[in-house]
Amino acid sequence: MKTVLTGIRPTGPLHLGHYLGALCQWLPLQRDYQCFFLIADIQALTTHMDQPELIQKAIEDVVLDWLAVGLKPDLPNVHFVLQSAIPELHELTNLLAMVTPFTWMETNATVIAERARLGDKVSTGFVYYVVSQAADILFTSLDPAVSKAEILVPVGEDQVPHLRDTNKIAKAFNRQYGPTFNTCKPLVGEVGRLVGTDGNSKMSKSEGNVIELRATAEEVKAAVMGMFTDPKRISADVPGTVEGNPVFIYHDAFNSNLAEVAALKDRYEAGTVGDVEVKEKLIIALEDFLAPIRAKGLEYQASADIRAILADGTKHARELAIATLGRARDAMGLYSLEG
Ligand code: TRP
Repeated sequence: MKTVLTGIRPTGPLHLGHYLGALCQWLPLQRDYQCFFLIADIQALTTHMDQPELIQKAIEDVVLDWLAVGLKPDLPNVHFVLQSAIPELHELTNLLAMVTPFTWMETNATVIAERARLGDKVSTGFVYYVVSQAADILFTSLDPAVSKAEILVPVGEDQVPHLRDTNKIAKAFNRQYGPTFNTCKPLVGEVGRLVGTDGNSKMSKSEGNVIELRATAEEVKAAVMGMFTDPKRISADVPGTVEGNPVFIYHDAFNSNLAEVAALKDRYEAGTVGDVEVKEKLIIALEDFLAPIRAKGLEYQASADIRAILADGTKHARELAIATLGRARDAMGLYSLEG
């Protein structure tokens, strides 16, 4: 068996963008891999340090969302992991930082973007998360259940520079102290990138442009009815543009009735269908997709012991982290009080 590890920052309930960009790619991996799904709540502090209640609630929402879409922590190879409950990760971060030239962080794309946005307000913690994310991934290196192989990390395109840094850090450590860490490989699938309901490429709850995976039928309906379409189209009887039109992007992603979608596109371009009909059909398609997820979410909400699920997966991950950290400390020649 090989290892898959991926993570998410808990900042709110997951939405259709997460499903298309990440979750649908994770689901089949549960069959063949040792899977660690990490809730990176310490990393969430890099942007939400003043919102502990939001993070606490989001942790539980993420677990429910994961269960609702079909991740299965009851399988022996699937582990839901809470980052802040593994102190060894933070020690590992510190040790890895010693072999990490500061310039690697200064040239990390996310760090550059954040500095452009926040200037001097960017915290050391934010810059440091390049190393912290390396620890998140590399702690799995000593897993006796998997072959010595690359750790597979399913992520969005935006995370690829981080994984490159993770490998640079792993190699720098191995060069300095002998073979200790595996390297990792991004798994950037054919995943679609969704846009917000307003057509914006940045999707977030605070923008009010997302449809959550466990949204009620009424919320789905309201969100679709409020979706942006072709801004240049002034009435239903003139030709409209399908390309880049949010309503059709959603149809393409979630409507399994391909013939219906093709017919709607033809009629839209011919000026023989109005936005309302296109949206009504989208509501039906999204309901087909979301109703089972919503139902499972409610079921788990009533019956699942979220803390126990997280505690269980975290315990397994922590044992690995302890073993890998021990190996790293030995490799570095730290003085041992045990003789
Ligand atoms: N940085 C990732 C994001 O913002 C989340 C994350 C934290 C992660 N630790 C990870 C992803 C380890 C992959 C592997 O989406």
